Amino acid sequence: MVQVRKATVEDAAAMAVVHTAAWKAAYRGEMPDAYLDGLDATEATGRWRHALAHRGEGQATNLVLEDDAGTVVGIAGVGPERLVEVTSGPGPRPSDEDSSVGELWMINLHPASWGKGLGRRLLESATQELRAAGYREAVLWVLDTNARARRLYGRAGWAADGASRRTARSIRSGPYGAIIGAAAAAAIRPAKTNAGSRITTPPRADRRARARYRRRC
Ligand SMILES: CC(C)(COP(=O)(O)OP(=O)(O)OC[C@H]1O[C@@H](n2cnc3c(N)ncnc32)[C@H](O)[C@@H]1OP(=O)(O)O)[C@@H](O)C(=O)NCCC(=O)NCCS
Repeated sequence: MVQVRKATVEDAAAMAVVHTAAWKAAYRGEMPDAYLDGLDATEATGRWRHALAHRGEGQATNLVLEDDAGTVVGIAGVGPERLVEVTSGPGPRPSDEDSSVGELWMINLHPASWGKGLGRRLLESATQELRAAGYREAVLWVLDTNARARRLYGRAGWAADGASRRTARSIRSGPYGAIIGAAAAAAIRPAKTNAGSRITTPPRADRRARARYRRRC
């Protein structure tokens, strides 16, 4: 039976495999080949183990999706909205500075499991998790070119809110930075701890555009 549950430290290796494989498949042509080729599940396992073992306030709650065979084929992370520099469209709203806005920090399926409805299932669980954590609204960031993910979000009731940004976050901090929270790049901070401030990002190597999507939880 397909099920979604909270991740534990024991899931670190499986999560690293899913994360690495998903990025290599999804972002080929979008990120430098050398960067994607360098992603290594063994190395990522250590980062995931650390993130799962040291989860603190302001960091993500991670979920795993197990397929019928009990294999972890999907991972998702939810938490407070992270304050990032918005390059056009609406910036942080007043509500960004309290804890009422959550964020889907990441969602990844192993490529062998794409196109079976499992992303939808995992996204539903992630949204429930945001609701259970008390969020009434949530945001996520998606690459303009990520048609598959945008289809998933659109079908699930998420809609672009007009904000976009171009940052080097993913290249600089790697896919794993995004889930580690406090250890991630300086551009990423939980909004609550940076109330009122705008974060300045370092010089950018990567100008890919991302759109912000939003929905009520
Ligand atoms: C984004 C991602 C999670 C979406 O997963 P997905 O499997 O494509 O999404 P869904 O679960 O919605 O599956 C929908 C597809 O499965 C098909 N499908 C097959 N059986 C289905 C079922 N029982 N229920 C629903 N859809 C089903 C649908 O027809 C649909 O096909 P389509 O997209 O060609 O129209 C996945 O592609 C992924 O991990 N990508 C890499 C990482 C990434 O981009 N993450 C998002 C960053 S913002």
